[in-house]
Amino acid sequence: MSDTRSVLIVDDEHDIRELLVLTLSRMGLRTETAPTLAAARELLASATYDLCLTDMRLPDGSGLELVAEISTRYPGMPVAMITAYGNVEAAVEALKVGAFDFVSKPVDIHVLRGLVRQALELGERAKRETDEHSSRLLGTSDAMVTLRNTIAKVARSQAPVFINGESGTGKELVARTIHAQGARANGPFVPVNCGAIPTELMESEFFGHKKGSFTGAHSDKPGLFQAADGGTLFLDEVAELPLPMQVKLLRAIQEKCIRPVGAPAEVQVDVRILSATHKDLSQLVNDGRFRHDLYYRINVIGLSVPPLRARAGDLPLLSDAILRRLSQAMHRPAPTLADDAVAALEAYGFPGNVRELENILERALAMADGDHITASDLHLPTPRGHSSSNTAAPAVHASPFVTGTHQALGAGGTAPRDPRTVSPYETAGTALPSFIEDIERAAIQQALQEHRYNKTKTAAALGITFRALRYKLKKLGID
Ligand SMILES: Nc1ncnc2c1ncn2[C@@H]1O[C@H](COP(=O)(O)OP(=O)(O)OP(=O)(O)O)[C@@H](O)[C@H]1O
Ligand SMILES: [Mg+2]
Repeated sequence: MSDTRSVLIVDDEHDIRELLVLTLSRMGLRTETAPTLAAARELLASATYDLCLTDMRLPDGSGLELVAEISTRYPGMPVAMITAYGNVEAAVEALKVGAFDFVSKPVDIHVLRGLVRQALELGERAKRETDEHSSRLLGTSDAMVTLRNTIAKVARSQAPVFINGESGTGKELVARTIHAQGARANGPFVPVNCGAIPTELMESEFFGHKKGSFTGAHSDKPGLFQAADGGTLFLDEVAELPLPMQVKLLRAIQEKCIRPVGAPAEVQVDVRILSATHKDLSQLVNDGRFRHDLYYRINVIGLSVPPLRARAGDLPLLSDAILRRLSQAMHRPAPTLADDAVAALEAYGFPGNVRELENILERALAMADGDHITASDLHLPTPRGHSSSNTAAPAVHASPFVTGTHQALGAGGTAPRDPRTVSPYETAGTALPSFIEDIERAAIQQALQEHRYNKTKTAAALGITFRALRYKLKKLGID
């Protein structure tokens, strides 16, 4: 497995890069090099590394910046600083901002080897811990960094949290993370799909029942509230609760006690309520289909999970992690995504979000025969019309065509400033692909101008990775 581990080397001196590459390659590691901070950032955004070695003084800034960035954005990745001989201050600074160690120039190969071994061991341990928590909320996009920070804050409170977001964005994972990071982590986490319980059984499911309280109640049965006592009750698909049940739930939440069906007295319960839906609950309140008082009670803190298309740059990382997890379960080495596959994923809108990405990769894994997944292995749903594989595609809702175009155009789902706001459906006469390419070309050229042809900034503004931009420039014949 050592041959799959890779190290990012950041140094502006060619000779040092060469020395490090040679030494690490002999240790069976893969290496990539960057001469500047900017180049390092690009690489970090498009791949995962097991270790980063960075020089202190770089042409476009300080290696300390990179150390700080890596330790906050990629906390699982050890980073070490290469410092000038005798520069104790620099070494101390590096450790303070999150480097795990430093090595001084001229680099002693034995010291370097020892450091690399330790770093990789550190990374392995972090990875094992991550695996134990099975899935963590991954992503380094601004949207995900903000979300994780918010979660860390709300985890410390006991207030009810209402989680909103499209299907498959990770609402349940967010709820589990809030629970796991909070004071109730050692208590139970009880998820309930409110849409899956038959109405007539609901009260007994939530509050439990006494033996003989109704036909079929053969014994005392505790309800979900009792099961979650001391922990968290997660009301998933909360919009599906029938109105009469909403009244009872409100009471339970307000009074912190419940009465099992057929029981003479109420019992106290101590649960934290988290809830989620992909629906617009405030709209349902306006329509009179959800009680305002319950909405008010469960929505003390509101948290919205961004759709995948608004998490610019997260796709390679997420895909890697998902492929690794799926392959591990199948006891085979994890394949890598070819450049054209990454570009194709980045151009696709993912109406079904992370869950859809998982489905697509699972199918691709079954189809791909080598250790490479190409764009054609992905079988992404194609624009309307002529695809029979579309039926097998896990697209959830909305036309993949519309979202796909949207994604290609805008940063995180927002349209560019000069959108020729024409519906693609009104274009009978123009061949669809060339119509889309025209719009893409216009949007990219405008963004390029606005950012003085700085490709990194342009890609960020368009909400796509540098790699995707490079791919599009080539494909669209833009110089
Ligand atoms: N940021 C993320 N990092 C890693 N995995 C994620 C992330 N977000 C979602 N997932 C994974 O995607 C899948 C869907 O997530 P989850 O079930 O939490 O979504 P949901 O919003 O509850 O979906 P639905 O609306 O379909 O119920 C899960 O397997 C989850 O582990
Ligand atoms: Mg869910």
